[in-house]
Amino acid sequence: METVAVAIPTKFKPLLTDNFRYKLYYGGRAGGKSYAFADCILLKARKASLFIACVREIQESIKDSVHKLLSDRISYYGFDDFKVYDDKIENVVTGSKFVFKGLRDQDKQKIKSLEGVDICWVEEGQSISKGSWDVLDPTIRKAGSEIWVSMNRENENDPIWKAIAANPDERTLVVKVNYYDNPYCPEEMKYLAEKCKAENPDDYEHIWLGAPVNLGDTKLIAVKDVQKAMQNKIAQSTSPLIIGVDIARFGNDKTVFCYRRGRYCYKFDSYSHLDTVEVANRITAIINEQKPARVFLDAGNMGAGVYDILKDRGYAKIVRGVIFGGKAINDDRYHNKRAEMWALANDWLKDELPVQLVNDDELLDDLCSVNKKYDIMGRLQLESKDDVKERIGRSPDKADAFVLTFAEPVYDNGKIKTIGIENTTIESLFAVKKSVGW
Ligand SMILES: Nc1ncnc2c1ncn2[C@@H]1O[C@H](COP(=O)(O)OP(=O)(O)O)[C@@H](O)[C@H]1O
Ligand SMILES: [Mg+2]
Repeated sequence: METVAVAIPTKFKPLLTDNFRYKLYYGGRAGGKSYAFADCILLKARKASLFIACVREIQESIKDSVHKLLSDRISYYGFDDFKVYDDKIENVVTGSKFVFKGLRDQDKQKIKSLEGVDICWVEEGQSISKGSWDVLDPTIRKAGSEIWVSMNRENENDPIWKAIAANPDERTLVVKVNYYDNPYCPEEMKYLAEKCKAENPDDYEHIWLGAPVNLGDTKLIAVKDVQKAMQNKIAQSTSPLIIGVDIARFGNDKTVFCYRRGRYCYKFDSYSHLDTVEVANRITAIINEQKPARVFLDAGNMGAGVYDILKDRGYAKIVRGVIFGGKAINDDRYHNKRAEMWALANDWLKDELPVQLVNDDELLDDLCSVNKKYDIMGRLQLESKDDVKERIGRSPDKADAFVLTFAEPVYDNGKIKTIGIENTTIESLFAVKKSVGW
């Protein structure tokens, strides 16, 4: 076998040199965990005959696994002793074998096939459920076998963290690695990390330093911010009128209209049992009487029909259909459009300049009920609407109508501002939109 120099960052050396039952590496994004695990495991597989399982909670296809990373590293180093198959990798010299499995969809019998495993690499350890862990852990039982975990902590209750790292014993290695420990961290990632540090220290701690989200603190919007906005009295605004319309999905939901001008959100109207045409008629009347700059409506389900009618009537410039589950404008930061709108509404509430919001208890509850979390890419994601509904016993329609007024930003002097800032005219809204290609 030829000799190839492979440089492993210092913190990861124990992966190669020491024997622990559990080796858990945690930290924020770009700590170099996945690469170092891949490199170390390949080196081990070149030295001895090992049975290696690469597992994660959900693996819908081999694409979700570290198969690609491993095969990329094999080609990068030019290791010609590995043979890469579609669903497994083998070392033809040592006889080492890699398999790739999702734990969630495996029945216990299939996980049992991992009994002879020497090294089990658990990627995205924060996603492993307690059920999966309770089956996996005793299955990896061969003498001297090791479980390697790479993870970014989600919250205090991550099952694998509680099981291995909360009270580590002498057979457990727990190492924290962050982007600044990664000698190969790309400049772009460092830049993003520093930017996040300046703009949003809480996100930075979680995404880049790997701190768990504090469970007592998982609400997106703080009660005190909403209460403050509800008590403020500001001068009436001359900013363009923006209307958000959350359209009822089921019999019990209401169709809610929210009216906002800049920092002044002054009215909600709720209707039950309106059909598609009736909602479109209301919006048409409002457009004619009140001349809003924009009407953003929830275009999922029934809303799609409402949008089509309004488009047919020639209102496509004013009326915008918004898909909550669709892509965010800033999709580096937000899991979907819904998360983005809620986050912008939160920014509005937290603005240094005072904002005023209709004083309404239901709206306060709606706004403060939604939990935040982060997806695997570290982007803000909200708990699902169905989960919110189940907990609060109704659909947060008022809050959804309100956040819809933040569906699209306006670029002003290169700075992103929310539609409705005092000096933005309707004409400039359209002009700017065109120039940025909307
Ligand atoms: N050994 C390495 N050689 C080259 N680039 C590396 C190496 N280790 C890490 N990197 C770079 O750092 C980035 C983050 O590493 P990664 O292993 O994905 O971190 P983590 O799994 O901790 O999020 C990678 O996308 C890659 O660009
Ligand atoms: Mg990784």
